[in-house]
Amino acid sequence: MTRVIIYSGKGGTGKTTVSAATATLLAHKGRRTLVVSSDPAHSLADVLGKSLSREQPTTLTPTLSGLEIDTVYEWRRNLGGFQQFISSTYSSRGVDRSTAAELANQPGLDEILALQRIMTEAESGRWDAIVLDTAPTGNTLRLLAYPEMIIGGDTGRKLFDVYRGFANVARPFRRDMPKDKFFEEIGVLLEQMQKLSNFLLSTDVSIRLVLNPEKLPLLETRRAYTFLSLYGLLLDAVMINKILPQRLELGAFFDYWVDLQKGYIAEIETSFTPTPLFKTFLQDSEPIGLARLLEVGQKTFGEKDPGSLLYTERPIWLDQWNEEGTPGLYELCVRLPFLEAEMIEFERTTTDLTICVEKWHRSLALPRILYNCTLGEYRYEDGILRLEFREEEESTNAKRQIDEDLFVKLA
Ligand SMILES: Nc1ncnc2c1ncn2[C@@H]1O[C@H](COP(=O)(O)OP(=O)(O)OP(=O)(O)O)[C@@H](O)[C@H]1O
Ligand SMILES: [Mg+2]
Repeated sequence: MTRVIIYSGKGGTGKTTVSAATATLLAHKGRRTLVVSSDPAHSLADVLGKSLSREQPTTLTPTLSGLEIDTVYEWRRNLGGFQQFISSTYSSRGVDRSTAAELANQPGLDEILALQRIMTEAESGRWDAIVLDTAPTGNTLRLLAYPEMIIGGDTGRKLFDVYRGFANVARPFRRDMPKDKFFEEIGVLLEQMQKLSNFLLSTDVSIRLVLNPEKLPLLETRRAYTFLSLYGLLLDAVMINKILPQRLELGAFFDYWVDLQKGYIAEIETSFTPTPLFKTFLQDSEPIGLARLLEVGQKTFGEKDPGSLLYTERPIWLDQWNEEGTPGLYELCVRLPFLEAEMIEFERTTTDLTICVEKWHRSLALPRILYNCTLGEYRYEDGILRLEFREEEESTNAKRQIDEDLFVKLA
């Protein structure tokens, strides 16, 4: 079994540093560890202070290897025919070759190819642990959850079969029909998407979110937290990085920032409880090179094993009951092991919900489907807060009207 840890988070928060520090610590503990970056910016090599091959893992120490995934290489290896077909389609429509090559690089496929490479490495049996440092895009998270969507799931698969049949019939008459290699690759890709989806949802894989104690990373991380939880990916830690050291006299200028961070750290604590939190202080210089990274890793994880699955419960989920034609009724369930049930109050905006118990409050990003719903009753049992959300009659009617109008137009 290979343990796979994926670090994700907003740009510049320290994903690469924390990934490299985690991997260095794991390797130091004797686990055969591979640290991988799927970021085309290739800062992993800079952080490690070593050059890395883009094709095969580079051995850094007896237990640590590194790899910067080169999506162009992965493309060629896996999808040469697919890319050729797409770019030849564009160039036959007058788009010049280099632009066509760019266009053939469909958004999301880079990440999918990177995840696929991780899965292959995990299956190889060469590693006890793989740590993945992702690119700073909000998309990576969604792509983690929907490998199937890119290709279109079951519907996509059926369309694909029909198209393949059509292409076989039409090829003798039309030059621009894709070749067999194209279909072979897409067929394999579809199968691998299914496998990848199962792999990401397995208990060997977990996601950790990296953020700084600041407003925007906090808001973005809350959305990611809800999203990942709803989808059922294991989210086993939240990493707060670049905390200003509070024991030092930093001067009046920094007092403001230290205070501000303190407020956000408190808010992060309530936002993600009961998921374990780890804190990393801002170092006195950029943590670059294996020795510095090991130190950061040791200070961050303390006695905890960075390779273990640190949390296994799902913090947020959504239950749903609705029959055909009735307004939706949802129950949003939030794991909050320590509330006093009598005193709970709620503040609601379209996109967020704040749960208040006296001075304590917890804000969470609502699932999109609840944006148009009104909050109803709540129950609190066995450490789980269950909130009823009802789709508004009007919004159901409005939707039905739109559907009917569309139907009339189509007919
Ligand atoms: N705890 C820390 N103390 C001091 N410097 C840090 C710390 N964490 C990260 N840095 C520095 O902050 C910068 C950004 O860190 P890093 O590259 O790890 O972030 P990232 O989230 O991977 O960024 P990107 O989104 O661009 O990939 C780097 O210069 C790094 O050395
Ligand atoms: Mg990075």
